[in-house]
Amino acid sequence: MSSASFIGAIDQGTSSSRFLIFDDQAQVVCSHQVEYSNNFPKAGWVEKDPAEIVDSVEQAIAGAVDKFVRKGHRIEQIKSVGITNQRETTIAWDSETGAPLCPAIIWSDTRTKDLVHRLCDEAPANGKDYLHKICGLPITTYFSAVKMKWLIENVPEVMEAQKKGTLRFGTVDTWLIYTFTGEYVTDVTNASRTMLMNIRDFKWDETALDFFQISRTSLPEIRSSSEIYGHFRDGLLKDIPIAGALGDQQAATVGQSCFEVGQAKNTYGTGCFMLFNTGEEVVFSDRGLLTTVCYQLGPNAKPAYALEGSIAVAGSAIQWLRDRIGLIQSAPEIGLLTDQVEDNGGVYFVTAFSGLFAPYWRDDARGCIVGLTQFTERGHIARACLESVCFQTKAILEAMHKDGNQNLNLLKVDGGMTNSDQCMQIQADILGIKVVRPAMTETTALGAAFAAGLAVGIWESVEALRKLSSSDVQVFWPKTTPHQREEQFSGWNKAVERSLNWA
Ligand code: G3P
Repeated sequence: MSSASFIGAIDQGTSSSRFLIFDDQAQVVCSHQVEYSNNFPKAGWVEKDPAEIVDSVEQAIAGAVDKFVRKGHRIEQIKSVGITNQRETTIAWDSETGAPLCPAIIWSDTRTKDLVHRLCDEAPANGKDYLHKICGLPITTYFSAVKMKWLIENVPEVMEAQKKGTLRFGTVDTWLIYTFTGEYVTDVTNASRTMLMNIRDFKWDETALDFFQISRTSLPEIRSSSEIYGHFRDGLLKDIPIAGALGDQQAATVGQSCFEVGQAKNTYGTGCFMLFNTGEEVVFSDRGLLTTVCYQLGPNAKPAYALEGSIAVAGSAIQWLRDRIGLIQSAPEIGLLTDQVEDNGGVYFVTAFSGLFAPYWRDDARGCIVGLTQFTERGHIARACLESVCFQTKAILEAMHKDGNQNLNLLKVDGGMTNSDQCMQIQADILGIKVVRPAMTETTALGAAFAAGLAVGIWESVEALRKLSSSDVQVFWPKTTPHQREEQFSGWNKAVERSLNWA
């Protein structure tokens, strides 16, 4: 029987949970995915039962492990497991029971809009940027601290647990590690999305805790992205260590081997997120980009930082066209519809379902479709939907450029929407630079596996990871003229104007 070593990766995303098993050459040996949907109890609210999140992860593990064993491997050959997760999503539980106190508030939920306005008014200085230089983030509905404060103020069970000192908050990494191992920890990348961590010393920050009135005892210990946090207490993976954790966007950056300053990747998942590695330097943006921790691969390793451009709605707009509007029956159909038209026919679709994130940060924006005529057909709307995320990507790249950061001459991409050739060609045409899609598209899970494998010595160093990165890519070249790009983008900017001041 072979004695080869393998690494597992839990990829807990906004719309699905997956478990993948990699070999030491970074190849996927088997995987299993469990799709699920979130609940939308009121306009702007997005929730999920935390127990269902755990259930879906357990099902994904069971499915992948079953395939692994059928291939003749043994579970003990899985040397460690890494976690990568949807970020900012906030869960509250009671330390006495370990049971959730309410549904998880998903990152894209905008119920905290009024609270955000109140907090910006109450901030001693700089309004929404009061904590920017401490945590790298503006005060918006997106980040965990605002969700935590809302829970304390609005959910009696959470308020009660706070009074008793038994309230525990966590992002999804923390919730899973706590459930599976009993340890109460988070990693630096996830902590950097709460607004509560000082991005220079990686400690919970006194000023931020005071501002949001959140107690340190309700927060996990902050650890590096690559070290043993604990071992599975039971289940199929009993005794295997969880040894890596990274927010999903940071994991994709690691999985794409963007280890050099100036390298960037764009991941098109439920939302779409561009991360630009700024190395050991903490760089602040004047144009709506976030400063975030990119990774710290070991307790004594130097951290790398990133500038991030976040787009709230990407794949979720396609889901919406499928599940709520019925324009398509399956996600790939959007490409076929898009192929039926030559261009957008003057139609622009601003998918501002959760307001607009980077670089606009307008929580008063709402979705709109403009430019409709009797000439408009389904293909135009399908195309405008794909273009929306591509235009927002362009706006982010322009902001990065104006901030004085290096101009990108290529964009590395990954995530579900990148399976669409049409979408990637549209992206290249809108940006005017080449778009590079790796043949190995499981970059998010791979990043988590890299972190977990490094911690237990499957790989020695970042250098070893870099060598594993595949050169097998597909390149999409831009086919537009600068004039065409300018014209299209000005149409988009006009459409964005229409979406503002709505909510
Ligand atoms: O910040 C939210 C992000 O982590 C969600 O990622 O892949 O579910 O769109 P995804």
